[in-house]
Amino acid sequence: MSSVTPKFPHMLHGGDYNPDQWLNSPDILKKDIELMKAAHINCVSVAIFAWAKLEPEEGRYEFGWLEDVINNLYENGIYTVLATPSGAKPRWMSEKYPEIRRVSKEGVRDLSGERHNHCYTSPVYREKVKAMDTALAERFAKHPGVILWHLSNEYGGICYCDKCQAAFREWLKKKYGTIDALNRQYWTDFWAQTYNSFEEVQAPAPNGSRSVHGLFLDWMRFTTDQVGDFIKMERDAVKAVDPSVPVTANLMYDFICYNYFKWKDILDVVSWDSYPVWRGSAAADVEEAQNHALWHDVMRSLKQKPFLLMESCPSATNWQPVSRLKRPGMQLAASMSAVGHGSNSVQYFQFRKSRGSSEKFHGAVVDHVGHGETRAFKDVTQVGERLELLDRALYNSEVKPDVAIVFDTENRWAMEHAQGPRNCGIHYAEAVRDQYRALWQMGVPVDIVDEECDISKYKLVLAPMLYMLRAGFEEKLKAFVKDGGTLVGTYHTGLVNENDLCYLGGWPAGGLRELYGIWNEEIDGLWDGEENSIVTKDGRSYRVTELCELIHAEEAEVIGTYGSDFYKGQPAWTVAEYGKGKAYYVAARAGVDFYSDFLGALIPGLDCKRALPGEVPFGVEACLRETDTERFVFLQNFTGEPKTVSLPEGYIDLRTGEAAGKLELRGYDSVTIAKAIE
Ligand code: GLA
Ligand code: ZN
Repeated sequence: MSSVTPKFPHMLHGGDYNPDQWLNSPDILKKDIELMKAAHINCVSVAIFAWAKLEPEEGRYEFGWLEDVINNLYENGIYTVLATPSGAKPRWMSEKYPEIRRVSKEGVRDLSGERHNHCYTSPVYREKVKAMDTALAERFAKHPGVILWHLSNEYGGICYCDKCQAAFREWLKKKYGTIDALNRQYWTDFWAQTYNSFEEVQAPAPNGSRSVHGLFLDWMRFTTDQVGDFIKMERDAVKAVDPSVPVTANLMYDFICYNYFKWKDILDVVSWDSYPVWRGSAAADVEEAQNHALWHDVMRSLKQKPFLLMESCPSATNWQPVSRLKRPGMQLAASMSAVGHGSNSVQYFQFRKSRGSSEKFHGAVVDHVGHGETRAFKDVTQVGERLELLDRALYNSEVKPDVAIVFDTENRWAMEHAQGPRNCGIHYAEAVRDQYRALWQMGVPVDIVDEECDISKYKLVLAPMLYMLRAGFEEKLKAFVKDGGTLVGTYHTGLVNENDLCYLGGWPAGGLRELYGIWNEEIDGLWDGEENSIVTKDGRSYRVTELCELIHAEEAEVIGTYGSDFYKGQPAWTVAEYGKGKAYYVAARAGVDFYSDFLGALIPGLDCKRALPGEVPFGVEACLRETDTERFVFLQNFTGEPKTVSLPEGYIDLRTGEAAGKLELRGYDSVTIAKAIE
């Protein structure tokens, strides 16, 4: 595996550090380094929002303070993740150059202030950013303490300015060639919306086009590409000076303003910011741990290599509905969960609590009290000690699943924007999570892929609600099963092409009707509170809700039928042989219980990797990282109750180095065990 930070090939422990807010307090800056060392912090992310200090007035760069900070850190064994500051434009620039300020979908240009709100097309902003990034790289890229570029911060949002829309029209011309081709794909004869030229195309707007779904999808695709182009500009600026320093951009949880999969080749390392909403109750905390584990898996799957947990909260955030304190042990458990899913770091927002403005009450490693005698500081220190203990073993270990779940962003955009068959919530993400939860509880490692990914290496692929078929993915699915793979598809699959145009001739389209051996005639939307069931011949019954497809089993064998309503007795769960493999079809929204039983029975026969051979108690997460010679299993108890986990022969507890046959996990406990691979 290529190291994520070659200059410092170790597990990273640290986080955002904003000394630019404390330059008038040199005593605090000195104290910071003392406290960083006490907390076993080995790297900090610096200058993320520092443009006003780096360039106090146009053309006057002030890097001396930053050089002192980086040198002092390095002299104390603390490395720097250096940011490009484009995430927050300085006020003087925003006032002088209005074009860099974003325009809303209502057509209103921002005033100065706030952050993450610049235009991604503005030539002025791109020129200013490129100049700043180049200057920072020329000054610091070769510094032995600078190990990674943190490009901007949480790229986010959409600009509707004239420049962005002009760029969009150029993007459309490249995609369609002629306006007739665009009209056909957008079905614009509908409601007389025919475009006579590309110049007539405007971005979707609340007082403009809202019902041309192909336009919406293309606008979202363009935005992903335009921001991706901005990121490339930043990346190329710093790499032009020294290509050896890797670049990352910190991504976000369940953030579908962009299709992150499109950026995987732009970044050297994927990083993201994870802020679970912990509630202190077992059921809620286990679900939240699963929700964030899924996104850890997304971030690892993007580049199929370790990622970095760039931000997490060392205490309670200030922006969640309620700032719940973490229960004792939760900080370490959540941190080790990230590592178990493939993170090579645990980093926080932020090191020292800001004194003013909106984040003065956001959790930090060092609170306003200014010392380390706090619960949060001690929790962080415990994480640092555990990472140091595990560093040798873990840094080169990887997560290599046999199972993948297809979770395609463009498919999600299309379903969530379409009208019908359930506008109160089509719940694609929820359907993915239900399948994921079953695998999480079984300790089965999972990759999260999209329709442009290669799925040939897996043994089992789950492809729920694949409403939109794009990038030829249906051919990959057929080849996968034909070659012996096992596929699980569901209702609402194979209805439209990439521009949300319905296929004619029967669903699922794209040859999936033959693959699954079923024909989907129509779908029944259920109101909240309504339900049906899938009943099997041996008497099992599983509750289904929301969407029930009325399918015809053509070549498929029926495993389960509906338990009620006018379609009682009709097929609801089927399996078809296809080539050397099998394709299952679940025609309704079934829950975690169904998938736990279904996949629990299926997986052992497929010999898919699992963290431990047997079941683990409810709420205990078991993650697996491997090298060629060792297996590392991370066990986190996300319930507040004690849990016992029996282990097979040969494992040692890395905390003690002792053989471990049975583990008694306290509430929110986390243990890492290892075993040599014969
Ligand atoms: C985001 C940002 C940080 C900070 C945190 C607060 O992740 O990247 O700058 O605002 O949220 O949780
Ligand atoms: Zn713009």
